[in-house]
Amino acid sequence: MAKLSVHNIVKSYPGEGTTTVRVLDGVSLEIEEGEFVSLVGPSGAGKTTLLKIIAGLLPPDSGEVLIDGEVVGLGHSRVGYIFQQESLFPWLTVRGNIAFGLEIRGVPRDGVQRRTDEMIALIGMRGLEDHYPHEISGGQARKTEMARSLVTRPDILVADEALSNLDAQTRNYLQDEILRIWKDTGATVLFVTHNVDEAVYTSDRIMVLSNIPARIIAEFGVDIPRPRTRTSPECLEYRSKILDILRVEQEKAMQRIGA
Ligand SMILES: Nc1ncnc2c1ncn2[C@@H]1O[C@H](COP(=O)(O)OP(=O)(O)OP(=O)(O)O)[C@@H](O)[C@H]1O
Ligand SMILES: [Mg+2]
Repeated sequence: MAKLSVHNIVKSYPGEGTTTVRVLDGVSLEIEEGEFVSLVGPSGAGKTTLLKIIAGLLPPDSGEVLIDGEVVGLGHSRVGYIFQQESLFPWLTVRGNIAFGLEIRGVPRDGVQRRTDEMIALIGMRGLEDHYPHEISGGQARKTEMARSLVTRPDILVADEALSNLDAQTRNYLQDEILRIWKDTGATVLFVTHNVDEAVYTSDRIMVLSNIPARIIAEFGVDIPRPRTRTSPECLEYRSKILDILRVEQEKAMQRIGA
């Protein structure tokens, strides 16, 4: 468990010719130890960019990322990352994929075996550990990716659209799995999703990002005990408030491009 602080992150990418495009415009946030926070925002707003900066995969132009009050830089390894695109190694089995992060860290063989077995059990994939990624379902692949990110016991897990491109039933099931794994591991979670219902169902708190250049424009503490009912009036009320904010953002973007 760890506390994550992001202070005033600014990031631009090269644009056409000599121009630059500012993507993150001073983003700040705090996530408490063991908290489950979702980040929702328009497509192209800079969510993946922000997660990469938090995980030490991309440098910000300015601003700082702190874990438990200490500044972390490029290449730090305290964050587990579930990538937006499927990223399992096709030449490794489920077991091989989960074990990979331990092996590159030089964990002794019996430790690798034990911790990999624990993760396989935790995600309910016993009996499938020798399958290759093309021999498992999309939902099982997402769970394997989750296990791969968690096996190194990161204090903080960032998940980028971890459950997109799945049918509704699998998605609902995996939301419950994520909550169960979160409780079991006690990790601090930053969960990026386009799906507002998913954010309301899972999160302690939801942050809403504006269009680029992105800033956090709203924040909601979701004060509903778990397990939640997706269609309860309380959940639907949060949903409609957040969708209203996103609708206004979309209208602004349309006006900007003259649509
Ligand atoms: N390496 C890069 N070089 C230049 N521009 C980039 C690069 N990566 C992303 N961008 C641009 O930065 C903006 C933010 O991208 P990012 O991937 O962070 O958005 P996102 O919020 O994750 O979007 P989505 O919801 O579609 O995944 C986009 O306009 C994108 O085109
Ligand atoms: Mg993205």
